[in-house]
Amino acid sequence: MKPPIRIAVTGAAGQIGYSLLFRIAAGDMLGNDQPVFLQLLDIPRLLPSLKGVMMELEDCAFPLLAGVIATDDPNTAFRDISIAMLVGARPRGKGMERKDLLEANGAIFTTQGRALDEVARRDVKVLIVGNPANTNAYIAMKNAPGLKPENFSAMMRLDHNRALSQIAAKVGQPVSSIRKVIIWGNHSATQYPDLNHAETDGNKISLLINDPAWIEDYFIPTVQKRGAVVIEARGSSSAASAANAAINHVRDWVLGTRENDWISMGIPSDGSYGIPEGVIYGYPVTCRDGVYRIVPDLEISEFSQAKMQATYGELVEERDSVKHLLG
Ligand code: NAI
Repeated sequence: MKPPIRIAVTGAAGQIGYSLLFRIAAGDMLGNDQPVFLQLLDIPRLLPSLKGVMMELEDCAFPLLAGVIATDDPNTAFRDISIAMLVGARPRGKGMERKDLLEANGAIFTTQGRALDEVARRDVKVLIVGNPANTNAYIAMKNAPGLKPENFSAMMRLDHNRALSQIAAKVGQPVSSIRKVIIWGNHSATQYPDLNHAETDGNKISLLINDPAWIEDYFIPTVQKRGAVVIEARGSSSAASAANAAINHVRDWVLGTRENDWISMGIPSDGSYGIPEGVIYGYPVTCRDGVYRIVPDLEISEFSQAKMQATYGELVEERDSVKHLLG
């Protein structure tokens, strides 16, 4: 048996946490031969509830679950971890402006960035799910100077999966046959879902659909606004689909992306595709041996370029409003 991998999950008592922990413990994320040790973090008020979740984990008798701890101290939760899934965040309260939300979450991710810097393994893979995910990831990264920027990522995968399903339904093909979709930019309504490079069985999706109006007036806004539509229908935000996307993201990062395909990850911009360094931006990437690489040399239309710059502009605004938290 392999030695257990230590995984921290923050916001573990929340609704995404409840959909996430049991699947990690069942082996859905790192494979069914990889034991895991879960290190759960939440705020003090939620610790009794987290105790209940721990009891349920115990009651599943998962063969791969080597142990669980629950704590309200980031330095305890992040000690010796290989994977950090930072889900916990302050939700937007009544009358709270976007700026206030950035500020409240900025404080959380400053502390957590520092704790990762102090106690996590140097090769830790960090996924930020809590919103605003890209800017929270940027804050955590800037507060962890002892870790490499490549250790940090933000979740674009739920948007990516939403795009795959919309396209599969439109062309009447199984979702597994759809490849090379991209979500550029911010995990927000300015994101740019791009199907210009997408294929099914080697055929270009855009030629099969042959309907620019469907792409501009239906596909792009549907993916951009899906989160809000789910909240409207369900009365609370996407949880099981978000947990599933987090599992997909980490699994592909650790175990590799499939041949002839890529995924979308929010990662530190490096100048690729005209996006200057200094934000966490959604890019198409392939992963091998635990390392991601931006897909190079894609042809970008003028329409795409404009959308990519617009979402970049929003990320710069977000970053500028939390400048004082950047370590
Ligand atoms: P939730 O409100 O059910 O749970 C959040 C949990 O985080 C709570 O248990 C809360 O106590 C905890 N928390 C708050 N501050 C914390 C701190 N400083 N340290 C540790 N834990 C803390 O929310 P839910 O539905 O689980 O969503 C979590 C986050 O994920 C939200 O910010 C949400 O907007 C975001 N999200 C992101 C998606 C993405 O695609 N990137 C998709 C869906 C949700």
